[in-house]
Amino acid sequence: MGATNRQVVLARRPEGPVTADCFEVRDGAAPELTEGKALLRTRYVSIDPAIRGWISPRGSGYLPPVGIGEPVRSNGVGVVVESANPDLPVGAVVTALTGWQELSLVGSDWAEPFTVGTIAPDGATALDALTTLGQSGMTAYAGMHAVLRPQPGETVVVSSAASSVGSMAGQIARLAGARVVGIAGTPAKCAWVVDELGFDACIDYRTEDVADRLKELCPGGVQVFFDNVGGELLDTVLRRIAPGARILLCGSLSTDDGDEAYRLRNYPRLMSRRASMVGFNTIDHWDLYPEATAQLARWIASGEVRTRTEVVDGLDAAPELLVRLFSGDHLGKLVARVDPDAP
Ligand SMILES: NC(=O)c1ccc[n+]([C@@H]2O[C@H](COP(=O)([O-])OP(=O)(O)OC[C@H]3O[C@@H](n4cnc5c(N)ncnc54)[C@H](OP(=O)(O)O)[C@@H]3O)[C@@H](O)[C@H]2O)c1
Repeated sequence: MGATNRQVVLARRPEGPVTADCFEVRDGAAPELTEGKALLRTRYVSIDPAIRGWISPRGSGYLPPVGIGEPVRSNGVGVVVESANPDLPVGAVVTALTGWQELSLVGSDWAEPFTVGTIAPDGATALDALTTLGQSGMTAYAGMHAVLRPQPGETVVVSSAASSVGSMAGQIARLAGARVVGIAGTPAKCAWVVDELGFDACIDYRTEDVADRLKELCPGGVQVFFDNVGGELLDTVLRRIAPGARILLCGSLSTDDGDEAYRLRNYPRLMSRRASMVGFNTIDHWDLYPEATAQLARWIASGEVRTRTEVVDGLDAAPELLVRLFSGDHLGKLVARVDPDAP
């Protein structure tokens, strides 16, 4: 192991949409192993919408903002290269909040949940452990299967339907016997979720009138809404909810990449429709990890759930990938390969 630790650090906070010049690449010092920790060499980092919240001045609400000059906080997967923790032995493939850096320390104490490293499920590749069997898969599974629990015949709407989380959430609802309507940003994404993932329909929110299309596609109203977008789109769906509707607030993509909050106008519909809207964080459901990863792995192996990941070489590519994430110019989870030897 070298004495240096290549990192991408936050150079300045974005004002409005994030740009690549908010970040700098530098060679930092390798962290020293401490009691109860393991030293992880990063293989891949995933480019997640949450990063945009973590680098804003207000942070994400559940974690403080990344400081100027600090490595950017990020989900990653790596291999343990030194360990002072028997739960995280040398050679284990581990997912954690590695940050945008080559080396990081992880632990196993759930009193500090955001420092915990999770050993990859048996048989999973590092890439799968990071994405489909990691944060994205866990979010889709816990949100849809454990919280919303769609029933056969119910009408489920999923926003950001072609995203890593949204695409899996919609497929899980389909497997539960629900009718699934996606909302996504391009004709190609809509075609993918309908033709390949088996959604019943998909609305292109950039070119179609979402309110009109929801009326047409969900004549009895929206019974379940897995929302990754928030803002105006959430407001539009609220106008179409059915009595007793369940809404999961999973993400807020429409307002993540900026400083403007959106004021909901149609929230009184929750009262008149006796509906419920619940905030969600995957970390609260991590006890489901063994069940979720086993079930997702079975569905993926059988082809019942399909996924896509785009891997781009180099830690240095991470800032440009974050900018791309908010342009919508990608299909599937964006991942940067940090270790050039990672398979
Ligand atoms: N609550 C939790 O614990 C938790 C955990 C993980 C992820 N999440 C949430 O899950 C959601 C999906 O994450 P992911 O990692 O699966 O994303 P992803 O695969 O990286 O896809 C992101 C997609 O978001 C869409 N998007 C970007 N800007 C947008 C905007 N202004 N308005 C509407 N859509 C926009 C784009 O698709 P289009 O072309 O369709 O716009 C883009 O392809 C995010 O909201 C994320 O925060 C929540």
